[in-house]
Amino acid sequence: MASLSIFSSFLLFSVLLSVQFVEGSVPRFPSSLLRPKLTKTDLYETRYFTQTLDHFNFLPQSYQTFQQRYLVNSTYWGGAEKRAPIFVYTGNEGDIEWFAQNTGFMFDNAPRFQALLVFIEHRFYGESIPFGGKEVAYSNASTLGYLSSTQALADYATLVIDLKKNLSAERSPVVVFGGSYGGMLAAWFRLKYPHVAIGALSSSAPILNFEDITSPYSFNNIITQDFRSESENCYRVIKGSWNKIERVAKQRGGLEKLRNSFKICKDYISEGVIEGWLGTAFTYTAMTDYPTPSNFLNPLPAYPVKEMCKAIDRPTAANDTFSRLYGAANIYYNTSGTVKCFDLDSDSDPHGLAEWSWQACTEMILPTDGNNNMSMFPPSQYNYSDRAGYCQEVYGITPRPQWITTEFGGHDIKNVLKRFGSNIIFFNGLRDPWSGGGVLESISESVIAIVAPHGAHHVDLRFATKEDPKWLVSVRRKEMKIISSWLKQYYEDISHS
Ligand SMILES: *[C@@H]1O[C@H](CO)[C@@H](O)[C@H](O)[C@H]1NC(C)=O
Ligand SMILES: *[C@@H]1O[C@H](CO)[C@@H](O)[C@H](O)[C@H]1NC(C)=O
Ligand SMILES: *[C@@H]1O[C@H](CO)[C@@H](O)[C@H](O)[C@H]1NC(C)=O
Ligand SMILES: *[C@@H]1O[C@H](CO)[C@@H](O)[C@H](O)[C@H]1NC(C)=O
Ligand SMILES: *[C@@H]1O[C@H](CO)[C@@H](O)[C@H](O)[C@H]1NC(C)=O
Ligand SMILES: *[C@@H]1O[C@H](CO)[C@@H](O)[C@H](O)[C@H]1NC(C)=O
Ligand SMILES: *[C@@H]1O[C@H](CO)[C@@H](O)[C@H](O)[C@H]1NC(C)=O
Repeated sequence: MASLSIFSSFLLFSVLLSVQFVEGSVPRFPSSLLRPKLTKTDLYETRYFTQTLDHFNFLPQSYQTFQQRYLVNSTYWGGAEKRAPIFVYTGNEGDIEWFAQNTGFMFDNAPRFQALLVFIEHRFYGESIPFGGKEVAYSNASTLGYLSSTQALADYATLVIDLKKNLSAERSPVVVFGGSYGGMLAAWFRLKYPHVAIGALSSSAPILNFEDITSPYSFNNIITQDFRSESENCYRVIKGSWNKIERVAKQRGGLEKLRNSFKICKDYISEGVIEGWLGTAFTYTAMTDYPTPSNFLNPLPAYPVKEMCKAIDRPTAANDTFSRLYGAANIYYNTSGTVKCFDLDSDSDPHGLAEWSWQACTEMILPTDGNNNMSMFPPSQYNYSDRAGYCQEVYGITPRPQWITTEFGGHDIKNVLKRFGSNIIFFNGLRDPWSGGGVLESISESVIAIVAPHGAHHVDLRFATKEDPKWLVSVRRKEMKIISSWLKQYYEDISHS
């Protein structure tokens, strides 16, 4: 069996998942993930802040600066005199506009709270690149070393404090929001900077997917459950397909047969690349199994896992395994119906996600790529040495898999946070493969888990639509009710001081 290993060195949530196959040493990222289509352009204005390169040292080079992009919407803000709140999105591993446009929840609630909306871009992503641009910034560890979650959190604190000062809004309460890696940052921000944010909504944040806290098999087993919940046949066809692909690939002319079956363009092709391409479609579709049509990673219909299984269970053309899988892949890669042939060659942007790969090679060691016998993917043992070897080869560095839990905690989180933490909402949708590493049980009266059995990756943060199911409407209502209670308490406290 070819080893199909889906490393989650991709963008977390978002794209956290970089799908990488062992056969080549360089991860191949679907190019569609690199160029999100931006649609809404009138939601915010863009500003830049001169940010310090290194918050934790006082060496001469620490004082270098870069321009950090942030987006602001002040249409609804009640103003500093009213101490109206500021809602801040702690940016993820990607272009901040992409996240702002997929975080309609903040826009939807700004009027009611008269909130100022601020979306801050994470250093080394989008336009917020130190060292004058990607060419130098991404070149090697001497510059990439300034890319870390702790630096990013310090950026956010620095920017928010300065912004409040400029607005004379020092007394305005700040609530931070984030999804996926951005959700991890939101929760950690509340824990590390309680004097800057009164609370955090941390959506689909796998803060427990580190070290031995969460099983490395959980991620792929949740994807498997998603497909299996649609139909047993769907699950069986996918699970049985890898052997068939391998068998055909080994035949004379087999790769060309696969190329035709899957309508792959005339470029590089191999068994591993095809498996990776299919694995990517299943993984991201599970992650974004939203109840309404979406365009987060790729344009997708509502309930796309159901649609994929329909294509597998009730094929419209031929009914052999490859035709069924082709139909499923078409849902993820060709919902628009405009793709002529599928381009598996992602070398066109070899450094596109290099930044996340760096994070995934230093501190973001999230063990997710094991496949046990329940998984619909080919069996593979989770093997940390594989990742470490890759990181050594690409960056000449050794990961620090224990750093995140050392810096932010994670082990025995209930006992730690019940006495120390407050004002954090952890949302998770159980159809999201990342939910396995999420906080699924409430820890105290104000560290609250909200779990949606039918939810996918940070679905709560999306713009509300008329088609939203009741459970989603109620999740969002509950979140805003909790956030209002934090704000109420804050105003009570300052009125006494
Ligand atoms: C702020 O967001 C609203 C949508 O909620 C939009 O109508 C408005 O134009 C935005 N304001 C700015 C300044 O972009
Ligand atoms: C690392 O990159 C910097 C900036 O591009 C360059 O000056 C330096 O020579 C590089 N170091 C190595 C070991 O390649
Ligand atoms: C605050 O104002 C100063 C002076 O105009 C400006 O340089 C800085 O960028 C502002 N801060 C933010 C966060 O916009
Ligand atoms: C598949 O198609 C063939 C011929 O098109 C038909 O004979 C067969 O019954 C079909 N099998 C299934 C499981 O639908
Ligand atoms: C994409 O969808 C269109 C419309 O359904 C179809 O004509 C086309 O062949 C599909 N592309 C691929 C590569 O299958
Ligand atoms: C899967 O593995 C478990 C534990 O190793 C074993 O008990 C179980 O029988 C296996 N199931 C199948 C279907 O192979
Ligand atoms: C884990 O990976 C390392 C290096 O890639 C390899 O030498 C080792 O045999 C692997 N272990 C298992 C159990 O697969």
